[in-house]
Amino acid sequence: MTHYVREGRLYHVMLPQQFEEPLMEELFDTADLIKEITRKPNGSGFLKSVLQHKKAMLYFTQPSTRTFLSFLAACQLVGIDTAEVRDPSLSSEYKGESQEDGVRVFSSYFDCIVMRDPKPGFCEYMAYLLDATGRSVPILNGGSGKDQHPTQALLDLYTMHRSFLNRGGLRKKRYAFVGDLLRGRAVRSSVYLLSQFQDLEFHFVAPAAFQIAPDLEDHLKTLGISYQLSEDLELLLPEMDCVYMTRLQDEYDLSGESQLVDYSRYSLDLEKVQKMKQDSIILHPLPRRDEIHPEVDADPRAVYWRQLRNGMYLRAALLLHVFGAAHRLQEY
Ligand code: NCD
Repeated sequence: MTHYVREGRLYHVMLPQQFEEPLMEELFDTADLIKEITRKPNGSGFLKSVLQHKKAMLYFTQPSTRTFLSFLAACQLVGIDTAEVRDPSLSSEYKGESQEDGVRVFSSYFDCIVMRDPKPGFCEYMAYLLDATGRSVPILNGGSGKDQHPTQALLDLYTMHRSFLNRGGLRKKRYAFVGDLLRGRAVRSSVYLLSQFQDLEFHFVAPAAFQIAPDLEDHLKTLGISYQLSEDLELLLPEMDCVYMTRLQDEYDLSGESQLVDYSRYSLDLEKVQKMKQDSIILHPLPRRDEIHPEVDADPRAVYWRQLRNGMYLRAALLLHVFGAAHRLQEY
């Protein structure tokens, strides 16, 4: 049996479906508090003392800049020591060791493993194997192929939550997800997470070949959530509260299918942004290519750089939760 929850707290963090609203609120409050403490005298020193006895392995065998650095910075904020494996050819896998044995080694040295791997389901499989050994440590999914990216979803919702604080929160808003929605795991996970909230309107704007996957449609239908599929971004822009942009995920192409798409229709420049509501927001998990022109960056609706920074606080909050240490912040 895989331990998704232990002692009333999340243990392995695999899927956005593990986060219900009260837990999300707890994490958002903790992230707010961490941010506040870092700005106080000796705040950083105090935070570093909270988990200074813990060690994390950052096992990132699929390319990553942001998520890797964000987890690294989050660990540093709360005092966790880190080590990393990013290129398996430099580890004993080169000598023929299985990936499973390699990961099992980490559980002897580290207190948690943050894992990004191109194979969907690999994190869950490793969590199951580690639990079966009786020498398990929590695994946090940092992106599993085209499948899921739960911590990205959390930081996306944290950013939406903060942006909509004076507008009644996440509810009763119109959300447009734009781009390669079939293969973008950030969108998949964020939609799974957002689907818990009532009174939201979902619009999925994508080339026909890259519209949302059937399982996500089934999920929304099962919950009775209505959604619109569209190919016309400009038409929707004036109505939306949140526009979530994504890049073309052509690393998953099987035979150059991305080449067949005019992706410029799924992009924003300042002229298009000016058609949006004044208090709407634009998110992007980054990295971006041409889908948001840099001239948009200075517009107050662009929150993607803030989203990046929020991710570090949110991931630090998640680590405190997993190690049962969030209450220690009250000592400050
Ligand atoms: C996303 C990812 O890796 O899925 N990036 C990220 O984690 N910040 C989005 C992407 O690569 O397009």
